[in-house]
Amino acid sequence: MRIQFEKKATSENLLVFFDENGELLVSKQWQKNNQELCQRLRFYIKLPEIKLKQKSVHVLFESKPTRILLACLGEKSEENSLRSVGGIIGKKLTSMRLEEISILFPTVTPSPHPLFDELEILMEGILLGLYQYSEFKSSISDNGEDENPKEMKLIRLVLKEDAQIKQKTNQAMIFAESTNLVRDWGNKPGNHFTPTHFMEQCQILAKEANLKFSFIDENKMLSLKMGCFLGVTQGSAEPGFIHILEYKTSQKKAETLLLVGKGLTFDSGGISLKPAEKMNEMKHDMCGGAAVLGAMRIIGLLKPQINVIGMIPASENLPGGKAVKPGDVLTAFNGKTVEVQNTDAEGRLILADALAYGTDKYKPDAVIDIATLTGACLVALGSYHAGMICDNETLKKQISEAAKDTGDPVWEMPGNKVYEKQIEGTISDLKNVGGREAGMITAGLFLKNFVNKIPWSHLDIAGIAWDAERIDYYPLKGATGVGTRLLASLALNWSGIKP
Ligand code: BES
Ligand code: ZN
Ligand code: ZN
Repeated sequence: MRIQFEKKATSENLLVFFDENGELLVSKQWQKNNQELCQRLRFYIKLPEIKLKQKSVHVLFESKPTRILLACLGEKSEENSLRSVGGIIGKKLTSMRLEEISILFPTVTPSPHPLFDELEILMEGILLGLYQYSEFKSSISDNGEDENPKEMKLIRLVLKEDAQIKQKTNQAMIFAESTNLVRDWGNKPGNHFTPTHFMEQCQILAKEANLKFSFIDENKMLSLKMGCFLGVTQGSAEPGFIHILEYKTSQKKAETLLLVGKGLTFDSGGISLKPAEKMNEMKHDMCGGAAVLGAMRIIGLLKPQINVIGMIPASENLPGGKAVKPGDVLTAFNGKTVEVQNTDAEGRLILADALAYGTDKYKPDAVIDIATLTGACLVALGSYHAGMICDNETLKKQISEAAKDTGDPVWEMPGNKVYEKQIEGTISDLKNVGGREAGMITAGLFLKNFVNKIPWSHLDIAGIAWDAERIDYYPLKGATGVGTRLLASLALNWSGIKP
């Protein structure tokens, strides 16, 4: 996909906007050159079926250009409405199998123009909405025709090319492209995305975004005494890894942020086997790790003034002959012992070692973990909000701000000490499940034991990483890429955490 600027609309497909007052949002010049067409468009905008359905795209057939798509920019007061409009447009363009479009937009420079910042959000929404996953669709149909899914190849922005606008659209492109990569990884079947495939992606991105890449393999974990990670990975024949990407700013005395994402490339539950129904969906149990990797791509390309370490503990959870058993006790990197009461609560085990090692080695100023951690999160918040637990007000504020800016919705859950009792061990320090009550909270508080008192936040994306159809710029089905833009935006707008 490319974005190109042009002086005159040249594509056969044309996208035109109007605002909530029914005003056409096109440059004066274009109006002058297309008076008759403008008149007709104004007539269409007034039609009740177009005027009343604000969050939709209307397709009109004209002689030249062949197709005109009319879209309302929506109520600006509504949260994320612009990104939503973009998402709806992107989905429409994909369903129409269009490969090229010219987008008309009023002249927005010099800034401040009320629509200047909106261009970036709108473009990001469109690029996110265009996403489709077709890797395993064969192109052969019964009648021998090529049925390859068509995709958008070129967006022509009918705008005067200008450094500021170019920077805005470039930023939108990097954010959306990275999120769409994360969606690809989440949608890939488990046999096509193992911890080793994760490594390949890390290597590609490290090169592209100028990041340092290293990994910890199982041998090294043995010598580092990462008993919790090893306990999870021992039931699977696929080797597990902790992948590490490092971004270093040129800014001296910058703070360091550690991001840790759960990278379970398939979660069967282990010996505490999950029911067969929907078990296939557990290929997406690596979406936290994927979000960290996608965010590191954005960070590497856009270079914030903060150091960022991204860690992805990646493993399968399978009930092989050597699998960890309910009742087994594991010892984590920081020496804490954990009784495994349920092998399906494996995410917190691999995260525990990664968090303990990461905080010890990199001495970060703040730590965020992100994971498809609990079914309880899905029950509590549904497929809309990620659940957040945070023990630091400054960090909480910055995460909430990033969530608002990027439209990856987050809701805070309490992380009080009172819940800690539920995960106290009987024969060990901790147990890996805290019972049915407050399942998302006890999972989060389990992780707090491994961050060494550093300001910390936990994001449970179990409800929103997959099939989150309520958000217009997320795909209707499959991986959403949630967290990618949020974490990147947090790093790019970092305002410090040290008192
Ligand atoms: N990966 C699952 C959580 C999950 C559930 C993610 C649904 C996405 C959608 C996790 O490893 C898990 O199985 N958690 C258990 C924990 C329980 C045994 C304490 C759960 O939530 O049931
Ligand atoms: Zn599990
Ligand atoms: Zn899991």
